[in-house]
Amino acid sequence: MKRECGPTLLTSPRTIAADAAGIAEAARILRHGGLVALPTETVYGLAADAASDAAVARIYAAKARPKFNPLIAHVTCLEAALGQGLFSADALRLAEAFWPGPLTLVVPLAPGATVCAASRAGQQNIALRVPIHPVALAVISAVGRPLAAPSANRSGRMSPVTAAHVARDFAGEIDLILDGGRCPVGLESTIIACLEEPPRLLRPGGIARKDIEAVLGHALGEPAGAGPVRSPGMSRSHYAPRAKLRLGAATLDNGEAGLDFGGIFGAAQNVLDLSPGQDLAEAAANLFSFLRELDAREAACIAVAPIPCEGLGEAINDRLARAAAPRDTHSIAKVGN
Ligand code: TXA
Ligand code: MG
Repeated sequence: MKRECGPTLLTSPRTIAADAAGIAEAARILRHGGLVALPTETVYGLAADAASDAAVARIYAAKARPKFNPLIAHVTCLEAALGQGLFSADALRLAEAFWPGPLTLVVPLAPGATVCAASRAGQQNIALRVPIHPVALAVISAVGRPLAAPSANRSGRMSPVTAAHVARDFAGEIDLILDGGRCPVGLESTIIACLEEPPRLLRPGGIARKDIEAVLGHALGEPAGAGPVRSPGMSRSHYAPRAKLRLGAATLDNGEAGLDFGGIFGAAQNVLDLSPGQDLAEAAANLFSFLRELDAREAACIAVAPIPCEGLGEAINDRLARAAAPRDTHSIAKVGN
């Protein structure tokens, strides 16, 4: 497949099905220091051997991601995570409740950890996640080492939830795309820093705050920005679509495209409804692909219907606010994911 990019034609990365042969090929490439985009339950990740400074350097280069923005290390189970990080009682409780699944825990680095300094951006703590997607688990298990994997988009762009989305962002910089269909959750993992008491919410995501607080038995600390622990990649302006976004819109203005929720805009050609039945999980799963689709229709502005802030709505509203924030290209270049 070819795609046009300025005056030259660039070859899209090789894409193969995520069957047994595809998983074996992905593992072979990863063991040799290559880059493979693969599905997780949240979004597609751009994976490399987390123990290899050289392989991880290729992730930063391919994404044009600043080197001070650390990566999540993906492992197959809690036992593997315990080899990389030191878990407090709260961290253990969360891991036992939500792994495998869309939760990332930031914990102090364990003494014998094998995840390289480049993957951690030199920090003495580490972000760890056990995905539940069978393809992601099979690839990590076949490689036999933790995989560093940021979302498989160029820095500052929207996260990909299909193999085709990944192919639009990359050409020869990555070695393979493993096509495992659409990512079911559609939003990135929730990130909790377990470095102090109480644990802090660094990024709302695929697991709702209330479910995490129910397991902890107390409230989470303030989000990133309110204290010393920050998630370096949580820039205000991110996920930048080409169109402007008008959030909390009750009606559709002339010429606008509409990202609806619960059918308030009525049926119109330029409207996509995240969830006609107001189901927040369905809305999360559709969010990035609908935003991309509406953006491609070339309206100057996308009106977005109000979405309640409860449950997964917190993460959906967080991503929409970032997509709507004034473009600060400098800050995207500095801290984009
Ligand atoms: O669902 C997900 O989390 C996806 C899939 C592929 O697993 N990954 C993902 O990675 O969203 P990325 O790199 O796009 O976003 C990870 C975020 C960044 O904002 C980064 O700054 C933060 O996690 N992060 C990574 N390590 C950290 C650390 N040690 N301390 C604080 N924040 C960290
Ligand atoms: Mg990202």
